[in-house]
Amino acid sequence: MQNENNELNFPPNFLWGCSTSAHQIEGGLTNDWSEWEKSHHRLEELKNQNKNPLDYISGQAANSFLDNNADIVCMKELGLNAYRFSVDWSRIEPQPGIFDETALNYYLNFIKSLRAHGIEPFVTLWHWPVPLWIRDIGGWESPKIVEYFNRFVKKTAGHLNTEVNFWITLNEPMVYSGNSYMVGIWPPQKKNFISYYKVIKKLIKAHRLAFDTLKEIDSDNKVGIAKHNIYFEAFGNKLINRILKFFADWWINERFLKAIDDKQDFIGLNYYFHNKINYGFSRQHEYEKKSDLNWGLHPEGIYYLLKDLKKYNKPIYITENGLADRGDQHRSWYINEILKNVHHAIKEGTDVKGYFHWSLIDNFEWAEGFHPKFGLYEVDYKNFDRIARPSAQFYQDVCKNNRII
Ligand code: BGC
Repeated sequence: MQNENNELNFPPNFLWGCSTSAHQIEGGLTNDWSEWEKSHHRLEELKNQNKNPLDYISGQAANSFLDNNADIVCMKELGLNAYRFSVDWSRIEPQPGIFDETALNYYLNFIKSLRAHGIEPFVTLWHWPVPLWIRDIGGWESPKIVEYFNRFVKKTAGHLNTEVNFWITLNEPMVYSGNSYMVGIWPPQKKNFISYYKVIKKLIKAHRLAFDTLKEIDSDNKVGIAKHNIYFEAFGNKLINRILKFFADWWINERFLKAIDDKQDFIGLNYYFHNKINYGFSRQHEYEKKSDLNWGLHPEGIYYLLKDLKKYNKPIYITENGLADRGDQHRSWYINEILKNVHHAIKEGTDVKGYFHWSLIDNFEWAEGFHPKFGLYEVDYKNFDRIARPSAQFYQDVCKNNRII
């Protein structure tokens, strides 16, 4: 796969994509998250930190709902052959059991436009926010949540199915449950281990049932989740560090995947973090390069995670990987290094079939608001223009030639 010009070629039909999610780019949403952003409690919290609330309210986001063609233009320019995005549950089912056909057709038409441009859609069914009526019955703690999520999946997939092959039921269930129910930084801001544990169990059930539903709709559907795995490294190979690594791998990286192993066709890997264990967990090591969020950039980590995921014996798609980098200082370097490591894993027999960069455009970054800039394209929030960062050119070269140098 390496030619005489030292180019590393990727397998034929490799998918080159970008990822986004509805709440982070669409704008104009009313769901539990949008209401939390404006809640008295949240505004007070921001005021106490001397932060301008407007930077933390998603509002129009990147205006993608009103002008999704602007995003397709970027995808075409990059030469993508795949795109991962999410539908928003509150748009599709604003009231219990009442489905908005206009919203469903909106997504159907968007998917048709992607297809018309030769772009394979990867549809995420849930990327965190829930409708207000779900929030009001207790969100992911509600005894009815699994049934209601399944009803939503059935209706949505039933509508979009003719145009979609790849479904991602849940985005990063372990990250969501941790931040929303145990660490308490995301809505509903709980700090309760029992709730956290129960929510994980509900998410597992929800995926398992959704898998069956998606297969009933069409047995050819390919179904998975987007799983955020961390590369845990035991410092100095010390016994205590190895024991901690064992538990961290089991709880954070493996438990969910093992619980759904018989109900998934592919593994979706989201990679952002390395954690070097030295008598405890810490992300604060000496890194040569860091993102604007102070996240250490450790491209080698993806190699170890991919090698580890091989044990599931399923095709792997890297459903997210990226960095906040307003000045675009490290993005091209990072993508290149990540892809070298992906290539290495493929060469050693890991079945990686695609890479989706997070993100196509700047997006609303949850509790961090609009400050972190993850886009290959910058969004000018005055007029919603998309402006290519230099790394967009770099990624275009990779996508169009199916190789790195
Ligand atoms: C999430 C995205 C988020 C990205 C960068 C992932 O954990 O799925 O929604 O924007 O990380 O933080």
